[in-house]
Amino acid sequence: MSSDWFTASAPGKFVVLGEHSVVYGKPAVVLATDRRITCSVRRSRRTTLNGESVDLRRQPHFNYLTRGMNYSLDFLTASEVPSGSGMGSSAALSAALALAIHSERGECPTERAIVEEAYGAELYAQGNGSPMDASACVHGGGIAINIPDEPSELWTISRGERTWRVTDIEVPDLSFVIGNTGIKAPTGPQVEKIRRFKQKNGFAGEIIEEMGNVTLEGYQALKRNDKERLGRLMTQDHKLLSILGVSCNELNKLVNASLPYSYGAKLTGSGGGGCMVALTDDPDKVAKIIEARGGTPFIIKSGSEGVRMETGIAKGTPLDIPINRG
Ligand code: PMV
Repeated sequence: MSSDWFTASAPGKFVVLGEHSVVYGKPAVVLATDRRITCSVRRSRRTTLNGESVDLRRQPHFNYLTRGMNYSLDFLTASEVPSGSGMGSSAALSAALALAIHSERGECPTERAIVEEAYGAELYAQGNGSPMDASACVHGGGIAINIPDEPSELWTISRGERTWRVTDIEVPDLSFVIGNTGIKAPTGPQVEKIRRFKQKNGFAGEIIEEMGNVTLEGYQALKRNDKERLGRLMTQDHKLLSILGVSCNELNKLVNASLPYSYGAKLTGSGGGGCMVALTDDPDKVAKIIEARGGTPFIIKSGSEGVRMETGIAKGTPLDIPINRG
């Protein structure tokens, strides 16, 4: 019964350092999480999503990834990644969907080809941004972007005047706790907010420059397993993101509550709501504090495998990926 289905999954991600400034070609450090999105596809007489007829034009990721296709598919999805929350739901969906569609056609695409498709789908859905999420969700493990003199390059992607050089990194043996504010915030408007700020105010460019320096220093601290320094830099990055206007009271509340029990904490992803992340030796304590302040905690296992084929089929639960959300 399930043999005509082709199923793939991809992990969500969180940003240790460098969201937003990465859009301007600055460095970033990102880890894949153990929460995944799974997609199954099979040929069909009409297009359905989780058993219901669907107009793909209203589903930008599906629309982009099935462009030029002259047959219909049934899609099933299952997600463990909260949408619109800075955890890479849009990139994980795109990566899993792209691989499932290729497999259904008997193709075996390279990681790089899937990154390009997933990044294309993200741009189509949200208008602007970097290939950071797509790279992290396709490759899994850990990645760093635009680190000078890093040898083990995975791929380089350019768009306009920006270039992102993506490198594989060793997954650190560190404990991170995610706190979800429960506020869904679209990625596109947050990215656009900073673009406008930067256009009007030279000061924004200086903040972005500083975020790049903080991220580079944080990358070195991560390599040395220097938790104290990395944590301080994460908190500093949160302050810089707040100055740029992409934090909010709910995120600040969870960050501040975590700090007494953490090396550092910051928002992760595009902000305006969504999630924060704390680096700590006491994840249970931080999870409790986050819960007490109204957030939903996840103790994250970082460094999960990237996009891959699966044997079972997706559960077919409704996909909580609204239009234009990350
Ligand atoms: O909120 P998310 O998971 O879509 O992450 C967005 C990350 C940004 O740096 C803000 C945008 C980007 O495309 O790099």
